[in-house]
Amino acid sequence: MTIGGSWDDVPPDAATVDRARAAVHAALDAGITDFDHADIYAHGKSEAVFGELLAEDPALAGRVRLQTKCGVRLPGNTAAPGAPAHYRLDRDTIRAGLEGSLRRLRVDSVERFMLHRPDPLADPHEVAGALDELRKEGLIRSVGLSNMSTRQVALYQQLLTTPVTALQLELSLRHRGFVEQQILANHSEGAEHSFPEGILEYCAADGIEVQAWGALARGLYTGAPIPPEDQHAAATAETVHRIAAAHGVSGEAVVLAWLMRHPGGIRPVLGTTDPRRIAACAEAEALAPRLGHEDWYALLTAARGNPVP
Ligand SMILES: NC(=O)c1ccc[n+]([C@@H]2O[C@H](COP(=O)([O-])OP(=O)(O)OC[C@H]3O[C@@H](n4cnc5c(N)ncnc54)[C@H](OP(=O)(O)O)[C@@H]3O)[C@@H](O)[C@H]2O)c1
Repeated sequence: MTIGGSWDDVPPDAATVDRARAAVHAALDAGITDFDHADIYAHGKSEAVFGELLAEDPALAGRVRLQTKCGVRLPGNTAAPGAPAHYRLDRDTIRAGLEGSLRRLRVDSVERFMLHRPDPLADPHEVAGALDELRKEGLIRSVGLSNMSTRQVALYQQLLTTPVTALQLELSLRHRGFVEQQILANHSEGAEHSFPEGILEYCAADGIEVQAWGALARGLYTGAPIPPEDQHAAATAETVHRIAAAHGVSGEAVVLAWLMRHPGGIRPVLGTTDPRRIAACAEAEALAPRLGHEDWYALLTAARGNPVP
């Protein structure tokens, strides 16, 4: 979740901290204990606000598991104002990224430290060495990867002595290349869908948790405005609504359960900070195993705008 107010360098105000506290407690009440951070979120304010909550309530640290990310360099944020947006994964940047996050979060270590995106200029041996050092110093428990291909994940697993425990990818009913690729493996339309070949199977075989960012499709199917160019979203939203009503759950639960019903063990990373929406999302856990085969395909069919071939 991204809490921390606007993407500027103004310190978070009391109202932001209050909103964050409400969101974190709504998550805990719903049984959600893992929190996803990154140095860039809201210019570091996402972490800084969380750090304030940990400082005001020392018991909170024992109830949450934190992961954070490094490597994305945005102008005026983690990079100089005139710099282009870029990725950087050299030893010093990785270490400085983690140290900044620990300082803002006011913790001594994090459960998992993620490489946010691959940097084509990075030397994987140097990256792995830097991460292993951080683990030896007790600053991180494990490594996470994000937005990487199957081969990139395999390479880091080979080079690291620190376990790779999670991979974060954009996955949703809207961003559903992972399913299209399976269905269209021997079909001319298959080329239109890009998704790292075999990555879900690779992660399943190696016990790497797959985390889905963008899982709510930013509310596209659950009440957020539908852009006129998105031809299939209205029909998908109707299908979501119908299935939600039949099960007596929220639309958010249906959208998330569609991902969680997949045998890949996908865990959504929720981007909402609205306490009511957090509670609505939490209904997905119970719904996922009950979401019928035909309902799952009805959602897929509506989102793709065509029956499966
Ligand atoms: N690894 C990566 O590269 C990467 C990239 C992006 C994000 N992430 C992580 O993944 C998390 C989730 O991703 P995300 O935030 O991009 O996607 P998301 O969870 O699909 O979308 C969350 C956003 O959609 C809004 N929303 C949801 N339902 C809505 C509705 N019915 N009506 C209006 N607005 C609605 C939420 O607003 P409310 O707060 O008002 O509910 C929030 O702003 C992030 O917070 C971050 O931790 C990782």
